[in-house]
Amino acid sequence: MSTKIYYIGHSGFYFESEPYKGFIVDPFISGNPRSSFNIPKNQIKQIFVTHGHGDHLGDSIAISKSTNAPIYTIFELSNYCLAQGASSVGLNIGGKIDFDWGWAKFLPAFHSSSAQDGQYAGMPASILFCINGTKIYHAGDNCLNFEMKLIGDIYSPDIAILPVGSFYTMDVDDAIIAAQYLKVDAVIPMHYNTFDAISVDVGAMRKKFQEAYVKLIVLNPGEELEL
Ligand code: NI
Ligand code: MN
Repeated sequence: MSTKIYYIGHSGFYFESEPYKGFIVDPFISGNPRSSFNIPKNQIKQIFVTHGHGDHLGDSIAISKSTNAPIYTIFELSNYCLAQGASSVGLNIGGKIDFDWGWAKFLPAFHSSSAQDGQYAGMPASILFCINGTKIYHAGDNCLNFEMKLIGDIYSPDIAILPVGSFYTMDVDDAIIAAQYLKVDAVIPMHYNTFDAISVDVGAMRKKFQEAYVKLIVLNPGEELEL
């Protein structure tokens, strides 16, 4: 049973684990100058969204409408998605939901959240996925915080997908500490080099992770990792 992680770009990923069909997280495609998305529609069974900002909710509503895949997100944002005609399920922080491939648990993110029209979108989230036994933590738009130590102690995720672009989220240095708190085997960086405000020197980032003995897996949009 192998698990595939496909990088859409920015904070967007597609996960698939045989024999199950897949799900996407934070699909920001149209309006993203660095995205790649060639996932067949019939493979998308769920959509997860960490918070309401346009670079995360992204194309979720349109994809939900065209695939019938529900959007799993925080209660208030879920209501917003329902009002836009999408299929959606609203959870809140701490909530866990089971699927044929495993489970997803909504956890905190220290950030903000609103819909494009300014409507309150509830708490922003990070999401821990357990996919066929492999635990992958998607941090959403997060800063370094001590909750990550708790997540590491209790759930010990295998892989963390962490923002590194700074300005709106944690930066590379804080992501290294987050990885240590989370006790993960490897980090996949996200939320960088999409816009000028979040530019990161990839070579310098690789060097910092190497010096801290934290394994870094850099994916370019359109690249995938097989576990
Ligand atoms: Ni955000
Ligand atoms: Mn963002």
